[in-house]
Parts: sequence; structure tokens; C-alpha cells
Amino acid sequence: TIHPVILCGGSGTRLWPRSRKAMPKPFLPLVGDRTLFEATLDRCADPAQFAPPTVVTGAAHLDHVLAQGSGNADLQVIVEPMAQNTAAAIALAACRLPADAVMLVCPSDHHIADAPAFCAAAKAAASLAQDGWMVSFGITPTAPETGFGYIKRGADLPGGFRVDRFVEKPNLETAIGFLADGGFSWNGGIFAFGVGAFMAELEKTRPDIAAAVREAVEKGHSEGAAFYPDAAAFGSFKGDSVDYAVMEKTERAAMVPVSMGWSDIGNWHALRDALPADEAGNRVSGTVDLVDCREVLVQTDGPRVSVIGLEGVAVIVDNGEVLVTTMAGAQLVGKLPGAANQ
Ligand code: GDD
Ligand code: MG
Repeated sequence: TIHPVILCGGSGTRLWPRSRKAMPKPFLPLVGDRTLFEATLDRCADPAQFAPPTVVTGAAHLDHVLAQGSGNADLQVIVEPMAQNTAAAIALAACRLPADAVMLVCPSDHHIADAPAFCAAAKAAASLAQDGWMVSFGITPTAPETGFGYIKRGADLPGGFRVDRFVEKPNLETAIGFLADGGFSWNGGIFAFGVGAFMAELEKTRPDIAAAVREAVEKGHSEGAAFYPDAAAFGSFKGDSVDYAVMEKTERAAMVPVSMGWSDIGNWHALRDALPADEAGNRVSGTVDLVDCREVLVQTDGPRVSVIGLEGVAVIVDNGEVLVTTMAGAQLVGKLPGAANQ
């Protein structure tokens, strides 16, 4: 079986005003009526394929994790003393799992429309991970996004490919070149690793993180389903993401291509595109009246919102705050005073 490791760390200020510090993106029902975190647990719920999940999170999110994961009696939670980025978060889970286990690392803030396609890719990825590969999920790129990792497909492997190059967050010029090349996929941020193989790679690239996390787990303690690593040991290194610390450097990178309606819902534009549209391409929720609008996203948690004659805008009303933006402007939302000073 595969051990799901669910990462719950980020804040998601680009989905302000709905995503806030106290209630960030993973814990909101952004698509459908399950939250992104609940949907992540649901995808890994089949006991024939998956062991009980391990969630790695910070103390600030623990209550949300326990409340929304309460349907899952066997849920294990690792509570980070402080955020040290994903290489360390994954290493914490690795040190708590059997050395011969395969883990499937899943961000908790993505939308995946086709769950069966996800499960099929997880199976292929786990089988490569069993053979010692560091496996990422490859997504067909649709734009030169600079917020993603890019992977260059190499020679065939069973169910996937070797990775010739892994480039985390290239600049725009480089990303445009990768799209023109045609041989690149986006890194979907979902990984399959053998526990022993992952720690061995981290040992090579960041021995300081590997040693400190081992110590933090040895000196940690449990309270019910929650495990608390030792804060002094866990705070003793400079954190980095798994993409920079392991995937860019390892010679054992592989990828499994998957088409599963994936979106990281990075901003209101991406959320609009992940939601079902009416004939005019509009997506609304709450009390909304539209006249002569196209491709708009309008959401309100209370006041009636009426919009006339607009195209490609988002209007979001949440808890007394109002955001109006074009789709192009959606990527700047995190810079607004309202989003930054909540
Ligand atoms: N527990 C924990 N602790 N989780 C964390 C931490 C941490 O310190 N830092 C980040 N996370 C979680 C986030 O909540 C998210 O679910 C996941 O790990 C990935 O972190 P992001 O901060 O969202 O990474 P990114 O979006 O910049 O880049 C990653 O994802 C892209 C796809 O969405 C990379 O893997 C890219 O290569 C990839 O393309
Ligand atoms: Mg992300």
C-alpha cells in the first residue's frame, strides 16, 4: 500500500478575501462542497490502495486539520514547531513511516477533477518509487507559468519517464523556451518516494536537514494522534523546498504523465476556470444578478451583488470585504493591503 503524506502549510493570500490567515485556502470549499483538504483526503481514502494518511502541518492549522479530518479515525498528524518548507516536512513524515514504505506526497491545496486518473497515476508512480526513483506527477503545461517546476522528459520507464532536467520556478524567458521545446511538463507538486530512498537522497544533498529532522523525530513526543517533533532540532537548519533540495539535484528523478483536470487554484482566475460555467461562461454563487456579462466570477456570502455589462472580471464579497479585479489582475491580489494586513 501507499502511505499518503499530506502537506498543509501555505497561507494562500491570493484568494483573499475568502482565504484568510485564520481560514486559509486548503480548508475552504472552493470547488464543490468539500474543502480542498477534505477532497485530498477523499482521493486517498480507498484502503485497497492507500494506508491511513499522515498530515504534516503547523500548530496554527491543527484545529482545522482535526475538524475536517475527523471522519478518518486513523489519521496521523505531525505538528511542525515552525515552518521549514517542504523538504523538511516530507522528511518528518519519512522518519515516522517504515523504512520500506512508499509515500505519496500530496499538497492539500490543489483541485483534481478526475480522481480515478489520480489513483491510476499514484499506482504507476508508487511502483517506480519502489524501484528507487524520485517520482513527480507531470502535467501538460498550458502557459509559461513561472510559479511551477518544469521537468524535461527523458527515456521511457515502465509507466513513466526518466527526468533529464528538473527546473524549479524558471524565469519567464526560460519558461517560454520550455513550452516551445515541447518536451517539458509542469511538476504537479505530487511526489512518490520510497522512504529509505528519499532519506538517502536528502542525506546526499542536504545532510544537515536529514540529520536535524532525524534528531527532531527521535526527541519528539506524541499526544493522541498528534506527534510533536523537537523544536530545537527542527529549528536548527535553513529550510528549503523539496524541489530545490532534492528534485533539481537527484540523478534518480522520474515522472508519471497524468491528465486529471489538475489546478493549483493559485488565484481567482484559476478558480474561475476550475468551476463549472453557464452558457455565457459565468460562474456565480450566493445572491447574484447578472445582466449581459460574460466569463465573470461572482461570489457573495451575504449582500446581493448585481453586475451589468462586464466581461472577465471577478467580484468577491466575503465577511464584509469586497474585491473587484480583472482576470489579469488576479495574480496581484496578495499585494493588496487587505490581503497583507488581515
Ligand atoms: N507542512 C508544511 N510545512 N507544508 C508546507 C510547507 C511547510 O513548511 N511549505 C509549503 N507547504 C505545503 C503547501 O501548503 C502546499 O500544499 C505544498 O506544500 C507546496 O508548497 P507551495 O508553497 O504551494 O509550493 P509552490 O506552489 O510554490 O510550488 C510547488 O508546487 C507547484 C505545483 O503547484 C513546487 O513543487 C512546484 O515545482 C510545482 O510546480
Ligand atoms: Mg502551491
